[in-house]
Amino acid sequence: MSEVLKYGATAKWLHWLVAFLVILMLIFGPGLEDMPLDQKEQTVMGHSGLGTLVLVLMLIRWPWRLTHKPPGPTSTMARWQIGMSHAMHWGLYVLIPLQVIFGILQAMYITDYNVVAFGLIDYSSWAADDKGLARIFHICHGVNSKLLMLLILGHFGVSLYHHFIQKDVVLKRMLPFGKVESD
Ligand code: HEM
Repeated sequence: MSEVLKYGATAKWLHWLVAFLVILMLIFGPGLEDMPLDQKEQTVMGHSGLGTLVLVLMLIRWPWRLTHKPPGPTSTMARWQIGMSHAMHWGLYVLIPLQVIFGILQAMYITDYNVVAFGLIDYSSWAADDKGLARIFHICHGVNSKLLMLLILGHFGVSLYHHFIQKDVVLKRMLPFGKVESD
């Protein structure tokens, strides 16, 4: 079987779409905290809608990743780097859906406003209001967002390290127009 050298178009689209949405939400999410309630309800309509879209994309991405062999490690990578990169990638595959699930759980129990994703999915009607549970899932959503931010920063840093220090194809093979022959 021939060696896989780069990611296919679907894997690249899924990667960059999810990356764009998640980074956008990590940057603007904290601004929701101190918003007046009426403005917050409107903004969370978009926030929860985009978050739901992330979950849909991840539900496509998971099986895609499991059924399409990605390019393997380059010859520049030491064993520990290969192990770290697997741990980081699977960490992202777990923390991203978890962020959405905590968001939905928080939305289901929120007491002071309604969360209706894109004005279509009324998460607040899925369960009776509960201040205690809303608080717990609010904390989970906040803590998970910080962990996700750290992991994304690490992922970004490592890809730059590969490109500029190790000078291999690891970043290029995921770029939209990256041309890859071999490492
Ligand atoms: C990848 C997806 C998502 C990301 C990256 C994300 C990120 C964030 C961040 C960073 C915050 C601020 C947390 C803090 O500083 O404590 C936030 C707040 C919030 N998120 Fe998300 N979120 C996502 C998905 C969702 C979804 C799907 C929902 C609901 C269905 C949701 C509902 C909320 C609500 C209601 C708040 C504001 C809580 C409040 O202050 O009243 N999020 N989100």
